[in-house]
Amino acid sequence: MSRTPQGQRASLDKQPHEVAAMFDGVAERYDLTNTVLSFGQDRSWRRSTRAALGLRPGERVLDVGAGTGVSTQELAQSGAYAVGADLSLGMLHAGKRARPQVPLLAGDALRLPFADASFDAVTISFALRNVNDTDAALRELARVTRPGGRLVVCEFSTPVNPAFRTVYLSYLMRSLPVVARTVSSNPDAYVYLAESIRAWPDQAALAGRVAAAGWGRVAWRNLTGGVVALHRGIREKGPPLGRDNS
Ligand SMILES: C[S@@+](CC[C@H](N)C(=O)[O-])C[C@H]1O[C@@H](n2cnc3c(N)ncnc32)[C@H](O)[C@@H]1O
Repeated sequence: MSRTPQGQRASLDKQPHEVAAMFDGVAERYDLTNTVLSFGQDRSWRRSTRAALGLRPGERVLDVGAGTGVSTQELAQSGAYAVGADLSLGMLHAGKRARPQVPLLAGDALRLPFADASFDAVTISFALRNVNDTDAALRELARVTRPGGRLVVCEFSTPVNPAFRTVYLSYLMRSLPVVARTVSSNPDAYVYLAESIRAWPDQAALAGRVAAAGWGRVAWRNLTGGVVALHRGIREKGPPLGRDNS
């Protein structure tokens, strides 16, 4: 963990205790900071995630890396039963205060506290990038999803237009940390955010990893020109996947 007078941030090897502590530090102002730094786009990205999941009333959906429950609350608009899980107790406590009606549990994406095939759909918004073993997390998401169930990963990605990509990367690396200093309770976390987005696989590379983890019919859709991508997949039928103990 690196510490500065402004706060603390995880390193790019994403040790779970560092990631959890970093999110504990941003929890209080997380929802507001998100909306400011994304120019309000986060709301439409969450609505698109809900739509891509095709949820029906009465279905069970798990939101992994739910944080303060802002993404989980959006899923519940569909009439599905939406439950969130997160590693950071600070984020969960802030979520309990802000949205007491949203069910939120402590849980690690790599060892989810649910039986095999418990959910009709699973989703993870802006959190897969923070898990230190992406492939194991995608397999663990498949384990808790019923055969034929759906996955949507909502994550920052690579803008498709080269000129826009240059402007966006400059915003990420130069302006975003400066703006974060004025709104966030832990601005250093937003330097990590910029670095982790830059190091993240592009749309095609992530699709390959989703498919390799037990998801079929993998496809993606770009939002805001590829600033964010929604990757979707269907849990392949076949023998249940065991928990990954490697
Ligand atoms: C950027 S926040 C996203 C929160 C919410 N999904 C949203 O859309 O605003 C990322 C969240 O992922 C959580 N996280 C990181 N690694 C995790 C893991 N291994 N298991 C569960 N949650 C994790 C963090 O604690 C943090 O709350």
